[in-house]
Amino acid sequence: MDDRAAAALALNLVLKYRRTSDQVLGSLDSPAARDYFFGSLRHYFAICSLLDPLIKRPIAEKHQDIYCLLIVGAYQLIYGRTPEHAALHATVQACQELKKDWAKGLINGVLRNLQRQCPINLSTEQSYPSWFANLIDQGYPGKMRSVLAALLQRAPQAVRVNLKENTVEAYCALLKQAGINYSNGYTKATLVLNKAVRQQDLPAFYEGKVSTQDAGASLVTELLPLKSGQRLLDTCAAPGGKLFALMEATPKIQATAVEVSSRRVAYLASEADRLGHSPTILEGDSTSTDWWDGTPFDAILVDAPCSGSGTVRRHPEILILQEIQRLRGYQQQQLRLLANAWQTLKPGGLLLYCTCSVFETENDDVIKAFLADAREASVVNLALPTGNPTDVGWQLLPTDYKTDGFYYALLKRAE
Ligand SMILES: C[S@@+](CC[C@H](N)C(=O)[O-])C[C@H]1O[C@@H](n2cnc3c(N)ncnc32)[C@H](O)[C@@H]1O
Repeated sequence: MDDRAAAALALNLVLKYRRTSDQVLGSLDSPAARDYFFGSLRHYFAICSLLDPLIKRPIAEKHQDIYCLLIVGAYQLIYGRTPEHAALHATVQACQELKKDWAKGLINGVLRNLQRQCPINLSTEQSYPSWFANLIDQGYPGKMRSVLAALLQRAPQAVRVNLKENTVEAYCALLKQAGINYSNGYTKATLVLNKAVRQQDLPAFYEGKVSTQDAGASLVTELLPLKSGQRLLDTCAAPGGKLFALMEATPKIQATAVEVSSRRVAYLASEADRLGHSPTILEGDSTSTDWWDGTPFDAILVDAPCSGSGTVRRHPEILILQEIQRLRGYQQQQLRLLANAWQTLKPGGLLLYCTCSVFETENDDVIKAFLADAREASVVNLALPTGNPTDVGWQLLPTDYKTDGFYYALLKRAE
């Protein structure tokens, strides 16, 4: 299929059916189609603010694919590298592929009007819904622009070498053989690739020697010190990246993984098989302790569901699909997950809370609210090679190109 038409159809699935980029990526075969799709998502708000005044009559809902094609066309004119006339011509032709030849005049007219305004200088903030930009401004005074700009970049691909299956040196040799260049991440096992490759094309992927994992997420192994034989609980486990990182860093820990979604439980189990790990996997709801046999854990990871605001580089549809009204619900769920997990922790045990959010409401605010009720909990100070300390935790930001936005806080239960 034509790249522009494919990108428009994928964008339509996001707008109309709230699909995620992961869910529609399979329909985008070429790098160009993926660039049109991701670029249109990243700059959706800025593009719509310019396009909408140029559309004289509203486009019927059943023709939203044409509106999406206009967005793809505008993205190329404003942000793309294709010469404007070629981009415009090809976008008009893409109407044929959508079987809507009647829309050629509309696309041509609107994009020509937009072309007359080019080059257009748009601010970074214009690519964001105002509530998102405001929360970043409040949370990171003086840094709003750099944080927002970083979230609009493409994220690098980082990998975690499975230390149970091979050494880092041995895996680096495999990468070199395959002509894949890399630099070091922030843990021994993490490598950041210079150029992304499909996961299944990573050397020895199917032998379980490697996994894709963001360099910020991999830092979990530096934060939750475990000893062989200790019992670890992961309350929100799938797809298992942090759980497996911990199992690879310390041999022979007894890990229990709880996950509420049966589909994600199945994926977690298949990943455990691929990597050669045998955690106890339970399908259950970690806002209750129904699944618990009463034996306490030495260490707990609560990697809570959140807005995903720190991962906008990889999932730019978050800017469109996420809503400020949902943040309160996330916060309540995060607190329930923490409070339940705490009941299963041994005296003297450690609990690591994390989110892939850059919003304080899901991070420090949650830990502070939890501490207000849990007197036998104390904060353990953290020090990481990247990011910044917060009042009670640590915030990673995508202004460091290697990491997404992540938040960590470590709590210790009194003996
Ligand atoms: C941020 S993801 C976890 C990522 C994972 N720890 C990793 O590193 O790969 C959150 C997970 O929690 C699951 N989840 C959400 N609510 C839950 C609940 N009440 N109990 C258990 N799992 C839950 C979601 O289905 C999702 O798989």
